[in-house]
Amino acid sequence: MKIEEIKGLQCYQCNCLFPIDPFPYTCPQCGKNLDYIYDYEMIKSSWTKTGLEQNPDLSMWRYHPLLPVSQVPDNTSLRVGGTPLVNLPKIANQHGLSTFQIKDDTRNPSGSLKDRASEVGIQHALELGKDTIVGASTGNAGSSLAALAAHHGFTSVIFAPANAPPAKLAQIRQHGAKLIAIDSNYDRAFDLAIEWTKLNNHYSRNTGYNPILAEGKKTVAFEIAEQNNWQVPDHIFIPVGDGCIISGVYKGFFDLLALDWIDHMPRLHPVQAHGSAAIVNSLSREGAIESVQAQTLADSISVDKPRDGEKARRAILASGGVGFKVSDDEILSAQQALSGSTGLFAEPAAAAAYAGFLQASEKIFFNADDKVTVLITGTGLKDIPAAQKNLGSLEIIPAEISEIENYLSRDNK
Ligand SMILES: Cc1ncc(COP(=O)(O)O)c(C=O)c1O
Ligand SMILES: [Zn+2]
Repeated sequence: MKIEEIKGLQCYQCNCLFPIDPFPYTCPQCGKNLDYIYDYEMIKSSWTKTGLEQNPDLSMWRYHPLLPVSQVPDNTSLRVGGTPLVNLPKIANQHGLSTFQIKDDTRNPSGSLKDRASEVGIQHALELGKDTIVGASTGNAGSSLAALAAHHGFTSVIFAPANAPPAKLAQIRQHGAKLIAIDSNYDRAFDLAIEWTKLNNHYSRNTGYNPILAEGKKTVAFEIAEQNNWQVPDHIFIPVGDGCIISGVYKGFFDLLALDWIDHMPRLHPVQAHGSAAIVNSLSREGAIESVQAQTLADSISVDKPRDGEKARRAILASGGVGFKVSDDEILSAQQALSGSTGLFAEPAAAAAYAGFLQASEKIFFNADDKVTVLITGTGLKDIPAAQKNLGSLEIIPAEISEIENYLSRDNK
């Protein structure tokens, strides 16, 4: 977008508006998180749906007029965004819905939705004259930053818990990032990453700290709207940890409403693991969000203290969303059910969103003509040991036809 289309960065707590230069990551007055505020009338005067439809770029950069950086990156050939929206009429029928869709964000370059945030963050870092980007991660944000930093020629330093899924840690190292695998949890990695960024005057890709990351994530909402021909779903199920993805999705639909491109805000339903449900717990009571001691196998949504919790809570309540809590068993069985019936392989955190949908359907939450979308945020290939928990041990078959016949004729094939 043109920089004059940005009115500033506004604090969700004290409402003060700040200029984008020098870039304040958080509110200079009270330290809380900031939101980009735009001049939608100015954007409307130079960008139309017809203009968008004529843009051959299928990546997230087709929405550049709503992204707060002045340039599109030189090289967008490693396409971020433009992921499939998969219609699944069989599941819609089973649950008595008019439409059921999966937004398959496993199909981003590094295998998760986080690429949308890394991509816009890297362009922002370039425009601020930085060459090193530091981030904290439960695994996906780091592997995403590592991959895209490699693509765009940046150095990346990633702080992650050493017990993150080994595939995600390997992915980070594979792309040549400097991995700081700490003997502590994500919350500590978060604080250390900020301290390191400040000490060295680097660029921060910390979720729930740098407001531009939600701007990248909101492009998934633009795609859901455009792929539905601007007839947005009634319900969207979203897996939630820090709360940045759901805040970003809200912002995306908020932008489209401001442009008059859609006619309503979908209800955004957060799904959290029982053992890591700080945001969902907070929906039914006033006051600050209370931290938890997170415990779930869904590593990407295992968060003690949600860093974008307040923004997420406001987005959920403003959209009419309802919180769902799912057990690890529900997550694993939803993961397997989704893989077996659709061909999609979601990591546990992403499968949690499907588990939340199944729970909602069981509670007779939907109306007959409802249109539901589930956001699948990361690929199961990054965490095979989690999926194996539900598969049982592998039986080795003697290499003879008679043994194979015998095996396949048994029930437990
Ligand atoms: C696959 C996946 N799903 C969901 C989430 C949760 O996103 P947020 O922490 O922004 O709520 C993450 C975050 O790491 C993730 O990697
Ligand atoms: Zn403030």
